[in-house]
Amino acid sequence: MSMDPQELLSLCKRRGFLWPAYDIYGGLAGLYDYGPLGAALKKNIEEHWRALYVLGEGFHEISCPIVAPEAVFKASGHTDAFSDMYVECTKCGETFRADHLVTGLHEAPASLDEKQLGRLLKENKVKCPSCGGELTDPKRFNLMFRTSVGAGKGKVAYLRPETAQGMFVNFSQVYRFGREKLPVGAVQIGRAFRNEISPRQGLIRLREFSQMEAELFLHPDHKSWPRYKDVKGQVLELVPNKGKPVKMTLEDAVKAKTIANEALAYFIWLTYKFAIDVGLDASKLRFRQHLEKEMAHYAADCWDLEADIGYGWTELVGIADRGSYDVQAHISHSGADLTAFERFDEPKEVEQQVVRPNFGALGPLFKGKAKQVADGLSKLHVGSVAGKDGVTVEVDGEMCSVPSSCYEVVLKKEKVSGRKLVPHVIEPSYGVDRILFSVLDHAYTQKDDYVTLRLKGLVAPIKAGVFPLMARDGLDEIAGAICNELTKAGLAAYYDDSGSIGRRYARMDEIGTPCCITVDYESKKDGKVTIRERDTAKQLRVEIAKVPRAVETLLSGGGLEPVSALR
Ligand code: ATP
Ligand code: GLY
Repeated sequence: MSMDPQELLSLCKRRGFLWPAYDIYGGLAGLYDYGPLGAALKKNIEEHWRALYVLGEGFHEISCPIVAPEAVFKASGHTDAFSDMYVECTKCGETFRADHLVTGLHEAPASLDEKQLGRLLKENKVKCPSCGGELTDPKRFNLMFRTSVGAGKGKVAYLRPETAQGMFVNFSQVYRFGREKLPVGAVQIGRAFRNEISPRQGLIRLREFSQMEAELFLHPDHKSWPRYKDVKGQVLELVPNKGKPVKMTLEDAVKAKTIANEALAYFIWLTYKFAIDVGLDASKLRFRQHLEKEMAHYAADCWDLEADIGYGWTELVGIADRGSYDVQAHISHSGADLTAFERFDEPKEVEQQVVRPNFGALGPLFKGKAKQVADGLSKLHVGSVAGKDGVTVEVDGEMCSVPSSCYEVVLKKEKVSGRKLVPHVIEPSYGVDRILFSVLDHAYTQKDDYVTLRLKGLVAPIKAGVFPLMARDGLDEIAGAICNELTKAGLAAYYDDSGSIGRRYARMDEIGTPCCITVDYESKKDGKVTIRERDTAKQLRVEIAKVPRAVETLLSGGGLEPVSALR
């Protein structure tokens, strides 16, 4: 059941899933520490994502720095467009996301500009939610954390607000690594930073969080996607930006152009599969398409996986069709040739735009180096010179500024063996922390005062509790040995010999451990122990040597199997 998020956060704090960061100094909003159980749960969620994307789909995993030079975000558009609007209380000074204060007063608050938002706030006499004071007019605020690199004035840099840009700027490396074929994909799991205006919702709005992002680089004319045929009959809950919410097959959605293309549909489905695998409740999930005005500056289409949790419907994953926006932007700003090459079956005579060096102007300016500068200019992609007064070209490791009088863009007829393409990108972007919190929310059940987290075996931080009935008479040694065997099999086990067996079960149920193993005096005689399954409370006697197999079967959803079936 969805529950009061404060209650869930308090369980998380008490049982070592999450702690407010730097608490002894009063903390800092939007920052959380993961305790041992939270860190294990997070790792398990990330591992499953890796299994799907890297092993299952063949994406190449890379890892890029968190700090990036300003040029990256100038090109990507983040320095200009990555902002939200805030209002400040004139009485208590607290700040609020302006669009969040008009939720319910407008169908798409995120699509409004400063003036429209200001008007809506005034018309509805919206006051400070904390003290009832008057609010200022909305102002824009860039969400990136700015820093400087190096001593003295240093160089302006930013903490990345998404892991994505590292993959775009590395397109050529990934393309080469993938043996120069499209489609090719990169993934990255790592930290992202956003100076959120009012992070009041626990893990949902953090200032430092983790993303798992995939960039699928496709031929710009892509129409089909190979694995689409395997999933096209799946029915999903869709909320398109035109028309009503609808349950429909992916095939119908693609045919009706509700979902723009097969690749996008496939990754929407993969996101759904991932969500179910990690234990999200299918009846509390939907895919909502962004309204046109709501789309990020780079997106041609975007679907969010939303989960119904204690905070209401919450975005966990954004699956965006970014077109060629980012790669093209980095070509234009850096001059690098971030293109793929499509080889024709037969060479073709084509007329294409090329950069032609003007030797008359280059000679006097660059003297002995004019030829090398000209070679550098000829290699430039036309997109990287368009609309500029000049470009830089590397000669013998030195950057030479070349004014636009030294080259021109001309049409040239040539026999070519292929053509350069700027790839299109489909990007599934997953927020790990929001997913983790939603998994906990959907797993939470309470009967009277008894709390059980029905975490799936795949993600549960501890797979089995192991209890000697008494911490003596050799029962403790048998339990210790079972723990060792489970650990050797890669199954995290927790030894507990304190309190009644009922209390020990309760402690394990509250942190989502799928099963518990009790060693009793009978075990010494028959070499068997009792395994109890969390969700059914079913119990079974199993030979000690077969415990790891029995736990594995149970974790994979096989339930408690009779011993004979475990050979
Ligand atoms: P919202 O509209 O809720 O601010 P967003 O549209 O800005 O989210 P995206 O930019 O699409 O989110 O980011 C991709 C994913 O990263 C989101 O689906 C979410 O899971 C996660 N994410 C984004 N911002 C945060 C944050 N401040 N704290 C935790 N996770 C976040
Ligand atoms: N890469 C998508 C986002 O973080 O906005």
